[in-house]
Amino acid sequence: MHSLDGKVAIITGGNSGIGKATASLFAKEGAQVIITGRRQEVLDAAAEEIGHGAVGVCGDVAQYDFHQRLADKVRKMFGGVDVYMANAGIINLEGSAAVSVSDYDKHFAINTRGVFFGVQAISPLIRAGGNIIVTSSLAATKVLPQHTLYAGSKAAMAAFARNWAIEFKERKIRVNILSPGPTETEILGKLGVTDADRPGFEAHMANLIPAGRMGRPEELAEAALFLAAKGTFVNGVELIVDGGMSLT
Ligand SMILES: NC(=O)c1ccc[n+]([C@@H]2O[C@H](COP(=O)([O-])OP(=O)(O)OC[C@H]3O[C@@H](n4cnc5c(N)ncnc54)[C@H](OP(=O)(O)O)[C@@H]3O)[C@@H](O)[C@H]2O)c1
Repeated sequence: MHSLDGKVAIITGGNSGIGKATASLFAKEGAQVIITGRRQEVLDAAAEEIGHGAVGVCGDVAQYDFHQRLADKVRKMFGGVDVYMANAGIINLEGSAAVSVSDYDKHFAINTRGVFFGVQAISPLIRAGGNIIVTSSLAATKVLPQHTLYAGSKAAMAAFARNWAIEFKERKIRVNILSPGPTETEILGKLGVTDADRPGFEAHMANLIPAGRMGRPEELAEAALFLAAKGTFVNGVELIVDGGMSLT
């Protein structure tokens, strides 16, 4: 008997990093997993690696129609959903003076609007006893250099999640926030940290984190599993998984 036997879980941004590690763990725990991302070949490879019949659905969370298409597909294939993890996200670090309108719109279209309309489309499919996890960031509550735009785009999630926890209470759907601290994923490369720079970057981060190192995607996945399966009385909370960085 596994903790997610017979459950259906959707994880956006499930072809990489924290999302992929979570999808792998949920699948091992018995869930039928549906992962999303924009890169078809990376999605296919991730679904293959996750195994257990994982399904990939390609699309952009910034597009309103994508969420409707995903909901239709999942309804037809599986009838309903038990866990929805709105995890897809981007980050570009720069001081506010350098932020363009297009950077601003991109962050809010993906990190904020994508989460809102994802929940709007998928929540009608969530069965009683199910739950929603939104991946925010330590940066939403801790001031970090050059994080202003990203922090703002993530901070809305806490307000969304707390309101949804009340909106969905009659339907017995819990809603929680998972906020990672610095975690070793592809996002670092997307931020411009090259392979050559990586040891220096990781050593710098290790100095800032009481745990003395960055987090691993598998550690975030364990926290997501707790919220999804074990934490049945946990609702409307922000679980910060950051090796203690919020204390510094
Ligand atoms: N790693 C960290 O240090 C850290 C810290 C705090 C919070 N987070 C948050 O954790 C979440 C996962 O990040 P990660 O570190 O695992 O990074 P990652 O490895 O870069 O994964 C990001 C995922 O989001 C997907 N994605 C990005 N934009 C998308 C879009 N417009 N439509 C659909 N999918 C999109 C990516 O897939 P495609 O590229 O194929 O679209 C990828 O699967 C993000 O929300 C991030 O903000 C990460």
